[in-house]
Amino acid sequence: MSNHVDWWRGAIIYQIYPRSFYDSNNDGIGDLAGITQKLDYVADLGVDGIWISPFFKSPMKDFGYDISDYRDVDPIFGNNDDFDDLLEKAHSLNLKVIIDLAFSHTSEEHPWFLDETKKDWYVWADAKHDKDNNRVPPNNWVSVFGGSAWEWCEQREKYYFHNFLKEQPDLNFHNLDVQSEIIDICKYWLDRGIDGIRLDVVNFYFHDPLLRDNPPRQSGAKFATQFEKETPYSTQQHIYDKSRPENLDFIAKLRALTDQYSDRVLVGEIGDDHPYKLAQEYTNGKNHLHTCYNPHMMSGTQKTLTEDLVRVPIETFFAQHSEVNNLAESVKESSAWPSWAFSNHDVVRAQSRWYKPYSYNNAFSKMLIALLGCLPGTAFIFQGEELGLPEAKIAFKNIQDPWAKETYPQWQGRDGCRTPMIWDNSIYCGFSQTLPWLPIPKAHHILNIQTQNKEKTSVLNFTKEFIHWRKIKPEIINGNHEFIETSNSNIIDLRRYNSSNETHCIFNLSCVETQYKGQKYAPYAFHIDEFKEP
Ligand code: BGC
Repeated sequence: MSNHVDWWRGAIIYQIYPRSFYDSNNDGIGDLAGITQKLDYVADLGVDGIWISPFFKSPMKDFGYDISDYRDVDPIFGNNDDFDDLLEKAHSLNLKVIIDLAFSHTSEEHPWFLDETKKDWYVWADAKHDKDNNRVPPNNWVSVFGGSAWEWCEQREKYYFHNFLKEQPDLNFHNLDVQSEIIDICKYWLDRGIDGIRLDVVNFYFHDPLLRDNPPRQSGAKFATQFEKETPYSTQQHIYDKSRPENLDFIAKLRALTDQYSDRVLVGEIGDDHPYKLAQEYTNGKNHLHTCYNPHMMSGTQKTLTEDLVRVPIETFFAQHSEVNNLAESVKESSAWPSWAFSNHDVVRAQSRWYKPYSYNNAFSKMLIALLGCLPGTAFIFQGEELGLPEAKIAFKNIQDPWAKETYPQWQGRDGCRTPMIWDNSIYCGFSQTLPWLPIPKAHHILNIQTQNKEKTSVLNFTKEFIHWRKIKPEIINGNHEFIETSNSNIIDLRRYNSSNETHCIFNLSCVETQYKGQKYAPYAFHIDEFKEP
């Protein structure tokens, strides 16, 4: 066993949504050169690396998650040289770079989809007919974004399968040529020097070749969703359109490739009803993914943060692992490792989800950062979380997210967390000299980075202080953990320890003063041994 500890175990990774980070060429949309210019800011936070949402060629129907060329940067974001510059600068600042590759589907404009000879690279099926002889899709599969998962193609007189938008046809992973091509694309970027890949919806790669109907979901079964009510997608058990056993064999191939390079990480995104069981399968041992994260701490419609919302996913993750039941074991075995996040580009910002819609609360934001950073595993922070940004309210006329067009006003979609970063208090907050692609809400202006840098007690200064302090705490980075029974759903009492150190972390999750073990905790107050707030 080597003493080398993988950099990503217990790292803090900062997610950058490139359209909204910094616009270096004043077209209203952020770009790679813009990210490069702002990397000093990111490094100053003390984070270990960045994950950049897709910047590849794309018609942007799903803002980059519909890729039409996996090896080229989209001109909106710059070019491949800009990416190399970004990588070089990031590495000079000791920041690792994880890119985001969406392989479950391509864009409908990908040359593979348009190529008659590559029909078998996608999932095509004949129509069925109902009793009145009307054409109907081959089975009951539905799209995550709403409606049938099948789109009729007049020209080919067949349906094709899409788990997301109809502009995102699903690749047929049963085809070995598809698999080789995907491996080759990963090799291309690994050779370019990236430190890791985030694999978008990694459990969606394979489908049931018999195209069997999904059974209905058992009533009352829990489902991670943004919606208060059931949706067509949430009424099914997705056992045939995703999470198929063949995924594991393909993941093993990806891992074998990645193992040819040193210090690289494969991070899988899992969207499933049984995310921990899947995370266990997908990360166990040395021939699967290094780590996985799932939306269970991010989505949901619970209006307040309670202890079980955080503790249960963590305990369930470790309970699923037969060979590793704590982090120290995991490091020793080079095995399963969890990752956690409260916010990302797909969900309502935690600040608003668990506090008040569209409002800011300095104490709550700080507690969220500290809590995430004390959990056992790797932490993903989404741009703006370090500023305490609340969700932005978006008027229907400004909506960009295609999903929102299906769900507004029940849900305004994902634009509210994707608004531009606020660098200063100027008209477009220093993001751009021109009108940004999404409006920046008035409530965000006052939270700008320039101002927060000057305020000793700002969320930004707190975040920097906390992340830098955490760096010298091995028991928090990759030590073991124990949740202490509190009998109070507002209190998290967490012990992080290794053979020589221990740090005790207590959080009051509630908006009222709370008594715990003879101590009074102000609303959203916390105590972490030896950590002093600025
Ligand atoms: C990404 C989303 C995207 C979807 C389809 C995900 O889970 O995070 O932004 O819309 O995959 O690619």
